Amino acid sequence: EIDKKVDSLLSIMTLQEKIGQMNQYNGFWDVTGPTPTNGDAAKKYEHLKSGWVGSMLNVTGVEEVRKVQKIAVEESRLGIPLIIGFDVIHGYKTTSPIPLAEAASWDMEAIKKSAEVAADEASASGINWTFAPMVDISRDARWGRVMEGAGEDTFLGSKIAYARIKGFQGNDLSKNNTIAACAKHFAGYGFAEAGRDYNTVDVGLSTLRNVIFPPFKASVEADVKTFMNSFNELNGIPATGNKFLQRDILKNEWNFNGFVVSDWGSISEMIVHGYSSNGKEAAQQAVTAGSDMDMESYLYVKNLEQLVKEDKIDESLIDDAARRILKVKFELGLFDDPYRYCDTERESKVVGSSENRKAVLDIAKKSIVLLKNEKQLLPLKKEGLKIALIGPLANDKNSPLGSWRLAADDNSAISVLEGLQKYNSNKINFTKGVELVEGNTAFVFETKINKSNKQGMDKALANAKNADVVVMVLGEYGYQSGEGRSRASLDLPGLQQELLEKVFAVNKNIVLVLMNGRPLTINWADKNIPAILEAWHLGTESGNAIAQVLYGDYNPSGKLPMTFPRNVGQIPVYYNYKNTGRPVIPGENLVFWTHYIDEVNTPLYPFGHGLSYTTFKYENLRLSKSEFGSGQSIDVSFTLTNTGKYEGKEVVQLYIRDLVGSVTRPVRELKNFEMVSLKPGESKTVTFKIDEETIQFYTANNKWEAESGEFKVFVGGSSYTTLESSFSFNK
Ligand code: IFM
Repeated sequence: EIDKKVDSLLSIMTLQEKIGQMNQYNGFWDVTGPTPTNGDAAKKYEHLKSGWVGSMLNVTGVEEVRKVQKIAVEESRLGIPLIIGFDVIHGYKTTSPIPLAEAASWDMEAIKKSAEVAADEASASGINWTFAPMVDISRDARWGRVMEGAGEDTFLGSKIAYARIKGFQGNDLSKNNTIAACAKHFAGYGFAEAGRDYNTVDVGLSTLRNVIFPPFKASVEADVKTFMNSFNELNGIPATGNKFLQRDILKNEWNFNGFVVSDWGSISEMIVHGYSSNGKEAAQQAVTAGSDMDMESYLYVKNLEQLVKEDKIDESLIDDAARRILKVKFELGLFDDPYRYCDTERESKVVGSSENRKAVLDIAKKSIVLLKNEKQLLPLKKEGLKIALIGPLANDKNSPLGSWRLAADDNSAISVLEGLQKYNSNKINFTKGVELVEGNTAFVFETKINKSNKQGMDKALANAKNADVVVMVLGEYGYQSGEGRSRASLDLPGLQQELLEKVFAVNKNIVLVLMNGRPLTINWADKNIPAILEAWHLGTESGNAIAQVLYGDYNPSGKLPMTFPRNVGQIPVYYNYKNTGRPVIPGENLVFWTHYIDEVNTPLYPFGHGLSYTTFKYENLRLSKSEFGSGQSIDVSFTLTNTGKYEGKEVVQLYIRDLVGSVTRPVRELKNFEMVSLKPGESKTVTFKIDEETIQFYTANNKWEAESGEFKVFVGGSSYTTLESSFSFNK
């Protein structure tokens, strides 16, 4: 029925009006203020009235959205409503943990709920469409945008992509509390050379098909309404002008029927890439390749009509793009009521509500990963402890909000100090120690990191000397990760390492709480500090979540979604690497094998690692049979026992290794996982099914299929588990 409505609308639209639907502008003037009369803003305003704008981004709040929507609906010839887009990346006003942190929960229900909360608030603020989830797989912690994704693994990343999209879009897009999602960045953005944002990407077909594509495919299966292409070139062709990606794979092979938006200015950047000679050619290449909407390049609105007239592009391409965009607008219910998302009463009730804060607190607790806990320093006793709280991030109310939190109020997070103070039976003595950043912190460059001002150190040392336990909160400032924040060093920035070592010299009872947007190199801490908690940037409820974990009111259950390197020189370091012809032989110091002469190959903490206050034992791994064929399956079972003192949750993980393939296979691949909750002393039998689908991959036949052969299967609490068995598959 929607298709008919779209067709009938298309039939009365002029060519330029159809092109208008393909044009997206950034919020351009104070919409509730006076009408612009000159410059760029005036031009955009004129285009809006002419029906030459299909979408706007970065206009937020009911009042503002209503104002721009009114121009499109009441002043343009056909009154087609705008689709209002915004980067709702991890929450809206109420901020959830950064996506990488949420991925550490391995809890799909919690992740979906977090996207629901974000959609609830954003839609109440007039937003119809989020530019999320980012589903780029990345194996490079130098890349600042790893904070925005689900980490290094394709299987986990695909599940998370699906959960997030379902959370944003719900079952009925026309409801006023759901928004359209956008799978981005198609494709390869996470494989930028040297981890430098926007940099060149050169990857082979096997990596594309087996590693990079699956989360995008899962997004299509989740019925994602939109895709965003990418700033990078892929094997010599900018993703924005890449027909193989957008038409051959996405629209033809996967039958995606939503629309593709370009990244910001990425159509015009094809000139800079050296792929297009001018704006007109860039527009032609982008639309031919399948980019349906131009974000802020102005090149579609300027050139497409002429290109059709000159027969350089077929008008059917414009029809196809406009049709896709209009369809999503119909599905959102914008034609029934363009002001469906513009209810001020709902806005004030929903945005920042206490229920939403409760929901983000829940996911924040679940996102924390206990990396190390010697001598059971954690959980902390609730009474009788003198605690020294030290570190530049310990009372920071801004950094925990992380990067990409455009709608959050500055300094609106609960700090660790505030969280700990709620347990007021202990004495908390706070000293900052050192500053992390100086001056304006929104744009953090190395020059702004404090490397010389040590004035606060002595006070911190005096505080530490006097305490039973020292809680140190160190890591990255909130804007030190995210877009454009690649780092060549992954050490604790500034004077923090020095502070840590000096405090350690006076008191060894340290709990290190890390706040960061990416894996860091923390070898010294791992060797010396008894307890380390990875707390990422956890959003609005950060301090409460951290305090509840430190005091044992929540037993940590998170597992790393990304490998922590020992040394930046190991990057890319990830669990599902290939064996090579010369793999490491443990214990043998051979020269001509794949290794470093100054560092081991293994990471500091592998993918899937994460401890609990209790302990778990895996045993009795058994297979229902040792061989299976097409249409059959094998059950892999084992017993998990809680052998410690606390009730706890464990994410049990299943990995396989395909020993011989027509294209070589990784040494391990995650194939399933489950969260198991056990009381002390309790045991449970866990069973995973392995069938033909489990072992499929993109083979040398250029097909997604299973190959006959021998396989190993591993189960355990991290990718480095050693409990293994084997089976074979015969087609
Ligand atoms: O959604 C983002 C994208 O990820 C990076 N460039 C800008 C877009 C819109 O803000």
